Amino acid sequence: MADFDVIVFGGGPGGYVAAIRCAQLGLKTACIDDRLDAQGSPSLGGVCLNVGCIPSKALLESSHLYHNARHAFAEHGILSGELSMDVAAMQARKGKVVQTLTHGIAALFTKHGVTHIPGYARLAPQRQVVLTPLGKESEETLQAEHIIVATGSSPHELPDMPFDGERIVDSTGALDFAAAPGRLGVIGGGVIGLELGSVWSRLGTKTTILVRGDRFLPMLDAQIADAALSDLRAEGLGIRLETQVTAVKKTARQISIHYEDADGAQRLIVDRLLVAVGRRPNTGDIGAEQVGLKLDARGFIEVDADCRSNLPGVYAIGDVVRGPMLAHKAAEEGVAVAERIAGQQPEVDYASIPAVIYTAPEIAWVGRSSEQLSADGIDFRSGVFPFRANGRAHANGDCRGLVKILADGASDRILGVHIYGDHAGELIGEAVVAMTFAAASEDLARTIHAHPTLSEAVHEAALAVDGRPIHI
Ligand code: NAI
Repeated sequence: MADFDVIVFGGGPGGYVAAIRCAQLGLKTACIDDRLDAQGSPSLGGVCLNVGCIPSKALLESSHLYHNARHAFAEHGILSGELSMDVAAMQARKGKVVQTLTHGIAALFTKHGVTHIPGYARLAPQRQVVLTPLGKESEETLQAEHIIVATGSSPHELPDMPFDGERIVDSTGALDFAAAPGRLGVIGGGVIGLELGSVWSRLGTKTTILVRGDRFLPMLDAQIADAALSDLRAEGLGIRLETQVTAVKKTARQISIHYEDADGAQRLIVDRLLVAVGRRPNTGDIGAEQVGLKLDARGFIEVDADCRSNLPGVYAIGDVVRGPMLAHKAAEEGVAVAERIAGQQPEVDYASIPAVIYTAPEIAWVGRSSEQLSADGIDFRSGVFPFRANGRAHANGDCRGLVKILADGASDRILGVHIYGDHAGELIGEAVVAMTFAAASEDLARTIHAHPTLSEAVHEAALAVDGRPIHI
């Protein structure tokens, strides 16, 4: 008899959510996770809760408040005297936020009856699991009816600039600086580079991001990306496009980054360097080869639309499989796999996965961009509405950004929504619901939005698709 109906490898947003949903459905479930916190205690929540999404948002909020205190309070008539910064206090607050949430997952496991096993798991034939419990050398073997692999991903390291945990760092290291560096270089103009680059930039660090491509955030609608680029630059974030890093030299005092751009050979001198050039799936040491689990050339586990691997009863979700490396995508796959194991037939709506970049203001989108729709040969109409024509944005004191809605030229079905502006990450929720229910732009245009709210900009963009916005 199996020890568990389901054993989940990994306790991140994919794995812990899958485990809880399995338990809710009456399946006897264990979740094996090897992460320890700074005190050496097992800590659920994966990269996202421990060293990713949550701590970065805690620091983003602190840096946002500091920036506002410096630049926006006076306009509101708030005079705060001399301002100073205590990075250690910010870091301590960040640590508390993380601890509250990771302990929360442990409490949820207890409540739902999920067995949390601190340790490292590997696949063995016939759905056996070889477990190395944390702190032990010995191995144990467990038998599962079903396995869900949710082992996540790790930062990609470039060969000539290995992470040293202090001066050349990955996202985890850049979240832990004890003080704002004088000069920060960032290689990689993706989500991590921008979010962490803007945290330190707002705390006073001279930050330069070296972007490889000629387009800033190419997955975004170009109109949105251009607006964000010019505002981020205006805020003082150095963003250099079309750069090719040729060498990185570290001395006791500084790091020199040699690169080429359209103007020829360049050199950037910094105190710290964040390398954020993507992540790779954690599949190197899960026993894939021994059991014949199929991986693709880049190490992702090959799965079908239902997250089934080539091995019967073995599923994989989240960053170890195709699709965007996003916590909410992993969690949704986790729920769907749990329900499939329980005999249900759920579906993940891959066309309506929102993405958010937590800069200030935020950038959020769902569905396709104008460029993607044109490339796909789809006839579409677009409606754009800027926040400078929104009353609430004026009252709040941040009128940057715009909403853009793209709808099918014939059916009017919404195909993409792109928002750059304050609270874009919250505003995109409405667009995701609309797309999930196959709404037309006219449905949004006929929906009453509360006044005065930022969401009225979404309403007006929907009206603009049909050429009838009121406030512009
Ligand atoms: P990314 O894939 O977003 O961006 C990496 C960037 O580095 C790309 O622009 C790429 O062209 C560039 N690059 C790759 N190799 C390079 C090289 N050798 N030299 C210079 N540039 C190079 O990856 P990132 O920012 O590391 O994030 C990793 C993953 O984590 C992403 O999938 C991201 O979506 C996810 N993530 C999501 C967040 C969110 O949803 N807000 C927050 C943080 C991470």
